[in-house]
Amino acid sequence: MKLAVVGGGSTYTPELVDGFARLRDTLPVGELVLIDPDAGRLEVVAGLARRILARQGHPAAVTTTASVAAGSEDADAVLLQLRVGGQAARDEDETWPLECGCVGQETTGAGGLAKALRTVPVVLGIAEQVRRAAPGAWIVDFTNPVGIVTRALLGAGHRAVGLCNVAIGFQRKFAAHLGVAPERIRLDHVGLNHLTWERGVTLLDAPGAASGREVLPELLAGSGEAIAADLRLPLPLLRRLGAVPSYYLRYFYRHDAVVDELRANGSRAAEVARIERELLTMYADPALDTKPGLLARRGGAFYSEAAVQLIAALLGTGPRGAGGPQVVNARNDGTLPFLPDDAVVEVPAEVDADGVRPLPARPVEPLYAGLIAHVTAYEHLALEAALKGGRDRVHDALLAHPLVGQEELAERLTDRLIAHNRAHLNWA
Ligand code: G6P
Ligand code: MN
Repeated sequence: MKLAVVGGGSTYTPELVDGFARLRDTLPVGELVLIDPDAGRLEVVAGLARRILARQGHPAAVTTTASVAAGSEDADAVLLQLRVGGQAARDEDETWPLECGCVGQETTGAGGLAKALRTVPVVLGIAEQVRRAAPGAWIVDFTNPVGIVTRALLGAGHRAVGLCNVAIGFQRKFAAHLGVAPERIRLDHVGLNHLTWERGVTLLDAPGAASGREVLPELLAGSGEAIAADLRLPLPLLRRLGAVPSYYLRYFYRHDAVVDELRANGSRAAEVARIERELLTMYADPALDTKPGLLARRGGAFYSEAAVQLIAALLGTGPRGAGGPQVVNARNDGTLPFLPDDAVVEVPAEVDADGVRPLPARPVEPLYAGLIAHVTAYEHLALEAALKGGRDRVHDALLAHPLVGQEELAERLTDRLIAHNRAHLNWA
């Protein structure tokens, strides 16, 4: 089996390769191609990838290239984990919205729109090359903003699935709180990428079992304080909702407090850039042959497990149906009936060689449905702006965003977004 990773020079790659090495029975990778325009970084990361595999006696060959067309030729699956403009562009996304009193974040709000505008055209160009080089290959998108990017890929007719680690992170944390194997935890996870709630937690009688019992109330009773502290949201809120929002909901539920905090602290991009410099120095050490602990300070925990499970199910390599439903970003098609069919939702789905099929979802409570519908409309307009360009489309997307909404604010943010991203926007 041949896998290609676009953005293979990312410091996350050892996380992915570590997963390939540990989970080789689920996903027998024969060839791994790391694709990246940064040749120096690519060789450093590939060197560590080879040592991680060799240490575990894994037979996969790791090759490198700057060419998407050459690297993805005849691949079975292509993973996208790139960042257009790098941490420097992210730093700007996280900074200029604060000047207008809005949250500065890489996927949420005005900064997230900037990232979408830079990223969608690049990803679509890559996907076209993949389609020619490897017709039939699955594209697994981890590139943010995952909801909008996946919607762009599906809209252009690509065989694509969007992936995020928020759900698997909750699964692992809840399992630890309950002292059970993660495979026994099934989530009633609903919403859009980075806008989700865990409305139920089923403890299966055994991994893969059809029967189990609802344990969210007891989880909140026993471990609510730890869960709330981790999310930095008030425990009474979680108790009242009877659900666990993802930590991205903090940007909505505590918007103004987060803005104050972000103004007082340096950007996450600056911190990540420091971590990355240190990681790359470590990766360059020929004696290192494991993923260093420092990588845990990045946000991508369990990304490799989620990716391996998903690719294995799509390619039909693991034991059939063994993993059960997986949380993915996929076309709505009536799953959440208050959204258009072509919206992309993040929900549990059945995954196999025929693709991903979201499981039927319980009706969504108005408290969540309103925000989900609001952000879905924003995502539609954000994609329009990314595909067609133009100041007015950027403005409309911002006006439609629940964290912006006011006309004068949208004007100021639009000017800043365009000024900071001119180099990446061919129409600006
Ligand atoms: C989580 C999110 C990803 C995001 C990452 C940021 O993993 O699901 O979508 O990219 O956090 O982590 P970072 O270390 O870059 O702040
Ligand atoms: Mn994510």
